[in-house]
Amino acid sequence: MATATARSRSVVFAPTIRDLLARDEKVFRIDPGKVGVSDSRLMAEIVAARPVLSTERSVYKPAAGAEIPHDSATRTIRALGQDAMAGIRNPPPPVRGMAGSWPYAGTSYLRRWLFSADPLPVSLLSKRGVTRSDALSRLVDRAVTRWPGSPDQDGRQDGGTALAGLIRGADDTLERKQAVAMYRRATATLCDGVAALAGNALWLMGPQRLPEHRADLTAVLWETLRLLPPAWMLYRNGGTAYTALHPEIRPEDDVALFPLLMHRHPDYWSDPLEFRPERWEDVADPEKEPAFMPFGFDGARCWAKHLVVPLAERLLTVALDNRLVVHSPQQEAQVPLRSLLSVRFEARVLGA
Ligand code: HEM
Repeated sequence: MATATARSRSVVFAPTIRDLLARDEKVFRIDPGKVGVSDSRLMAEIVAARPVLSTERSVYKPAAGAEIPHDSATRTIRALGQDAMAGIRNPPPPVRGMAGSWPYAGTSYLRRWLFSADPLPVSLLSKRGVTRSDALSRLVDRAVTRWPGSPDQDGRQDGGTALAGLIRGADDTLERKQAVAMYRRATATLCDGVAALAGNALWLMGPQRLPEHRADLTAVLWETLRLLPPAWMLYRNGGTAYTALHPEIRPEDDVALFPLLMHRHPDYWSDPLEFRPERWEDVADPEKEPAFMPFGFDGARCWAKHLVVPLAERLLTVALDNRLVVHSPQQEAQVPLRSLLSVRFEARVLGA
């Protein structure tokens, strides 16, 4: 289980992930205060046992010192969906923007494609040079809160995104500050996640069977979500709600759930380390497959899952149509320890 073989290409996981992959048990102690789980039934039970706490959320964790109201969360996801679907109807930016270090090149490219319609200072919210620095982010947040632009009657501005419309249309300062945080988190989660998924797929596809894989990119992406799921670990703080589910879990324990380990376990999958998109060919609803949870289980299922695979497929199509290839390394790439699991490589456009 230590390394993934994908026919011609392989990955080297960060030591911590390698150690986790080497565990034989499906419920194991990681340290004195943390239990790891990769058992499919127990994972489903844990996810269902209690709702995710607001502090455990990523996009919808509290912002500006207050919880995100449910209606504002649903407005955000609707706006994100509208913007993503409208964005990919626009012609893609020049593909040379995808050359360079992945997954970052993919993230920047997607941001440009989907969110470049917003005027300053809003467009700075999702700019990578800004999002990498907390100090710059705070400065831009303040600028946008003060100068959000003026809304037309739909809360939008000509050419601007619906997400930016939520900032301009906010009723008071708290709502505006939260809309700014939502804009940043939603665009980042979408672009980072989709770039990680598309990059992992580019790596796993390899050059040998490319024509065959190109014929069914949806299957390629589901198989990528199995072997290299960007959301590879889910975390729950405190074990009180889970002690009845397994004797190893004590009230004071945190619990880490590992889709990555479950997706590679021979008890659940045949040839688990083989990249075989064809295993998804006749599967009507991949998310109903047992022992597969790239977007979570019932109880905390991802709100954006309907956007992620189509966007990744569109990004991959543009990349392959324009002859974007992995330039280096050729055989073995690193997967560092990050909250999103992504293969690191350099890409080039052939003939450019
Ligand atoms: C490749 C991109 C993404 C992947 C792989 C992904 C994966 C996941 C997973 C595994 C969960 C379950 C988490 C848990 O049980 O702890 C989840 C939940 C969730 N995701 Fe996503 N996600 C992605 C993008 C997004 C985006 C762009 C948004 C919204 C802007 C989003 C919003 C949510 C929400 C609201 C939840 C429910 C948990 C909560 O209430 O906070 N996700 N996602």
